[in-house]
Order: sequence, then C-alpha cells, then structure tokens
Amino acid sequence: MMNVETPTAVGSGTAATAKFTSTRISAETPPERLAAIATDVLEAFATIIDRHGITYPEYRVLKQWLIDVGEYGEWPLWLDVFVEHNIEVVASRGRCGSKGSIEGPYYVPDTLHLPSRCTLPMRPDESGTKLVFAGQVRDLAGNGLPEATVEIWHADAEGYYSHFASNTPDGILRGTVEVDADGRFEITTIQPAPYQIPTDGPTGWFIEKAGWHPWRPAHLHLMVKAPGKRTITTQLYFDGGEWVDDDVAAAVKPELILRPRTDADGVAHAAYDFVLDPA
Ligand code: DHB
Ligand code: FE
Repeated sequence: MMNVETPTAVGSGTAATAKFTSTRISAETPPERLAAIATDVLEAFATIIDRHGITYPEYRVLKQWLIDVGEYGEWPLWLDVFVEHNIEVVASRGRCGSKGSIEGPYYVPDTLHLPSRCTLPMRPDESGTKLVFAGQVRDLAGNGLPEATVEIWHADAEGYYSHFASNTPDGILRGTVEVDADGRFEITTIQPAPYQIPTDGPTGWFIEKAGWHPWRPAHLHLMVKAPGKRTITTQLYFDGGEWVDDDVAAAVKPELILRPRTDADGVAHAAYDFVLDPA
C-alpha cells in the first residue's frame, strides 16, 4: 500500500543516508596524503575562525547544527548540494567526451532493464508533460556503442524522487536502457519539475538563514556505461527553465542544456548524444 503522506526532510534524508551507507566505501588514501588534507582542512577552519572572530555561541550553534544534519540523515543532501560539484570538476579532468555533472543523493543501482525504445515505469495517471528523450551513445571517433547502457532517473512533476519520498512508488521514473545496434535510444517519460531541497530540516534552515534559495532546476540524471569506456555521470537541464541560471547545487554547465521542441500534440522532444572517453 502506497504511503501518500507529504514527504519530510527527515524521511528523504534518512532514506538517502540508508542508501549511501548500505555499501561501505574505501578510498585507499595513503596516510601522508590524508595527513596533508587534514592539515589543510584544519587550517581552513583556523583562518575562518580568525577572519570572522567566531564566538562561542556561534561555535556551539555549529556543533548543534552538525549533530542535527546527522540526525536528520541529511549529510548526503548537504554534501551533494554544496560540495560535490567541486569534486566532479576534478574527476572530469582530462575527459574529451561529454560533460559530466554531479550524481546527487538519489541514484539507485540495478533498475529495471528496458529496450532502446521504451517508456519509463510510471503511475497510470502520472502527471506532467510527456517527454521523448532520444540520442546516441558514441566513442570519441563517432562510432555508435551497441553495448552501452543509459541509466536514467529523475523527479516527478512535483519534484519528488522514487525510493526517497514517501509519496512515490518505488521504481518509477527510473530505468536502465539498453541501446540498439547503432547505440541509439528513445526514452518516453514525463518532464520533471524543479527540485526543492527539503526546507523543514537542517539543510533548509542553513539555506534560509543564509538568505539563499533551496531550488535546483528541473533535470534528468544519466549514468552512461559501455565496456572499455569511462562511465559518464551527468545531468541535463531544460533551456529557459526556472533556476537554470541559479542552481543551488552549482551543477549546470552550458553543454548540458536541452532545447526541446513541442509537437502538435503537446509532447516535448529532446535530443542528446553521449560521447564516451576510453576507460
Ligand atoms: C540533491 C538533490 C538532487 O536531485 C540533485 O540532483 C543533487 C543534489 C540534494 O538534495 O542534495
Ligand atoms: Fe536530482
């Protein structure tokens, strides 16, 4: 039975934390590198405390807030909004193919496999403008990659992601699309709405106190894989959409903006080709 309560920050945060901690991460960072990074982090703290004359009450508020972020399960949200874009830039160094963008906290592996022309799982009465998203996966030389997969996930027309919001059934608006013999795909779905960071938890309080806004522009998430190729994780945005020029997560790049055309039936058609670097 579907839970139709309004999703809460603590609900989506807890789900995002549970997903993240379900696999234990290891980075194999050598001790000298760890020590150098830790020294720089502490130096950055020292500089900020000195520059702003941070007071004891401010220090204690920070301590309380950090505890709250953990208790609401919001570390995946906060980090992916405010930090991941910098990590992605470093990770993309040396790439010649398509541009990447942040993964965000809402990826789910092993989603339903779908043929190259497919419709994503959705509710029978899924609201939102119908969107047909088509393209080709190629190597740097322009050859189609028939063994590629295009994993896609996106929010619904209310801005909620399945598996992370209590009002969406698991599995909707997600899939792993197997491209055709030329590397092509055509995915029918609905156009997502802009995403609002939950405002009722510590990430929301932080944004509100700073006088910022909690919005990301509407976007499709993609992870494109092919044997012998470097996996690309990226996002695609919609030209002219709200917040495209002012993403709270700073994850928009000009190359990632779709320019859909709307046909006589009101269906939006968007095209994008993925070019993969060698692994
Ligand atoms: C967050 C949510 C997203 O949908 C996304 O793409 C990136 C970050 C977040 O809430 O942290
Ligand atoms: Fe997202």
